[in-house]
Amino acid sequence: MLELAIISGSVYGAAEEVARHAEDFLREAGIEARHLPRADLETLLACDPAALLVVTSTTGMGEVPDALQALLDQLAGHQPDWRGRPLAVIGLGDTTYGEQFCAAALQAHMQLLALGMRDVQSQLQLDASETVTPAEDAEPWLARLAANLAGL
Ligand SMILES: Cc1cc2nc3c(=O)[nH]c(=O)nc-3n(C[C@H](O)[C@H](O)[C@H](O)COP(=O)(O)O)c2cc1C
Repeated sequence: MLELAIISGSVYGAAEEVARHAEDFLREAGIEARHLPRADLETLLACDPAALLVVTSTTGMGEVPDALQALLDQLAGHQPDWRGRPLAVIGLGDTTYGEQFCAAALQAHMQLLALGMRDVQSQLQLDASETVTPAEDAEPWLARLAANLAGL
């Protein structure tokens, strides 16, 4: 069965909670999902995921949380051969930040596409101005992800 690694970038814990919930939800749906909180390059490469789900909030003015940005930069430097591997991204942000809304998720997405990974479905963006239950709100999108991955 296809193994999906989930990596997350979070400052105050909301994205981390969405990532944990995604792991539980996807496992229930039959996907071998594994959340790697605060993963470093070695851990991620050792896991050699067949597919990747990234869950990240945006901090500062459109920035990726530090630990995830460091990991993305290390991946860009290492260039693992992940060409063609399925990729999915969930962004948490706040529309009060205007053009910087979910900028970190877009940035992370671009960095991973640059490795040759391919999108499974369009990015989910969760707006803190609209919801206080982002983990539950992600469920319909996660159900589609499970179906898409199962069909590969
Ligand atoms: C200091 C700070 C800066 C933020 N900057 C942005 C931003 O540039 N763009 C955006 O969409 N959301 C921004 N947000 C909103 C967070 O991304 C959003 O509240 C998210 O749910 C927080 O997730 P976390 O608890 O995982 O860090 C910012 C929040 C804070 C506190």
